[in-house]
Amino acid sequence: MEYEACRALLESRLKTERYVHSLGVAETAGKLARRFGVDEAKARLAGLLHDNAREFPVASMIEEARRRAIPVTPLDIAMPLLLHAPLGAYRLKELYGIEDAAIAQAVARHTVGGAGMTPLDKIIYFADMIEPGRDYPGVSKLRKLAEEAPLDKILLAAFSESITFVLQKGQLIHPDTVTARNEILLAGTQV
Ligand SMILES: [Fe+2]
Ligand SMILES: [Fe+2]
Repeated sequence: MEYEACRALLESRLKTERYVHSLGVAETAGKLARRFGVDEAKARLAGLLHDNAREFPVASMIEEARRRAIPVTPLDIAMPLLLHAPLGAYRLKELYGIEDAAIAQAVARHTVGGAGMTPLDKIIYFADMIEPGRDYPGVSKLRKLAEEAPLDKILLAAFSESITFVLQKGQLIHPDTVTARNEILLAGTQV
């Protein structure tokens, strides 16, 4: 399915607010892809569809994941909303006819990151945090970094922001976010 057909199907399945957020992520991901020499069409499509599984009620996500043999971890049971990322990746093929593994991986990793993230994975993770509809205290600093910093420096700031947020809320820190952040630090990026 091409972008326009995906957009129309997504619009019919998501609540308006989530759909508008998805358009913002697609647009932001496209701009970042241009800046970092990543395939812009893939970035726009991954951005558009990253939250496609948000159409499922949170209470049904564990069941929907198990039905598709998607692994469900204890963290997923504690925070079932996390499953919209792997479920969304699965449904790219199931509902949107998209079989591109790079797009599927970027959708699967958009909530908590992961080991060995590709530039496309990083762009989708970050675009989700800074699309024009986002409004939280640290967002303008992250948007400024998006204009001028190297991709890994941007992601380091994004992971730090995300971990700080969950710490302040007293919530679980996902180990995949820690892994992704550590990888960047171990690769020698300066804060
Ligand atoms: Fe999401
Ligand atoms: Fe999102």
